[in-house]
Amino acid sequence: MLTRLEKPEDADAIHELTWVAFEPMPYSNNTEAQIIRDLRASGDLTLSLVAEESGQIIGHVAFSPITISDIKDGWYGLGPISVKPERQRQGIGRELILKGLDLLRERDATGCALIGDPAVYRGVGFESDGKLTYGDLDTRYVQRIVFKGSPPSGALKFSRAFGE
Ligand SMILES: CC(C)(COP(=O)(O)OP(=O)(O)OC[C@H]1O[C@@H](n2cnc3c(N)ncnc32)[C@H](O)[C@@H]1OP(=O)(O)O)[C@@H](O)C(=O)NCCC(=O)NCCS
Repeated sequence: MLTRLEKPEDADAIHELTWVAFEPMPYSNNTEAQIIRDLRASGDLTLSLVAEESGQIIGHVAFSPITISDIKDGWYGLGPISVKPERQRQGIGRELILKGLDLLRERDATGCALIGDPAVYRGVGFESDGKLTYGDLDTRYVQRIVFKGSPPSGALKFSRAFGE
């Protein structure tokens, strides 16, 4: 399996994969595939990584700029992330996340945050200390990994493509 940055011709395969992976999820409103297209169109798709096997895209992760209250620079949001249903729980998501975090560090990022199930993200180093908020959401689902400086406090805000 190869993990690499997206190419222009990958856009439709990423869209399809994201749709198929999120469609059965009860927490999904099935906007994730379109969010990736909108991030790309608005120039906010900072990193888009695919996992490719035998010429087929079986995993994808997006990273885009976020703000945390008055912190406007240096932070990135992870997501959407998708792995082909029949290939889930085989380490593909983990590999995509770790590669993405490495590339963010290379860009001198301050940190990365996400909304998601702690069971999926704690193994790669994401944590919640309750100081990062996202509306009324239980802060256990609002997680971050700090590359430099002290852990941030405040309200997490994603790019406009996420519809906020
Ligand atoms: C979430 C997703 C991207 C994870 O990718 P994956 O390749 O299946 O994950 P991995 O096999 O690399 O596992 C990474 C970690 O997540 C855990 N995990 C994966 N799927 C899980 C699930 N459904 N429930 C609980 N934990 C899960 C693994 O146990 C592993 O934990 P560890 O690092 O402590 O060992 C994938 O399941 C997916 O595409 N889901 C549908 C779309 C979605 O829900 N995206 C995320 C929204 S927040």
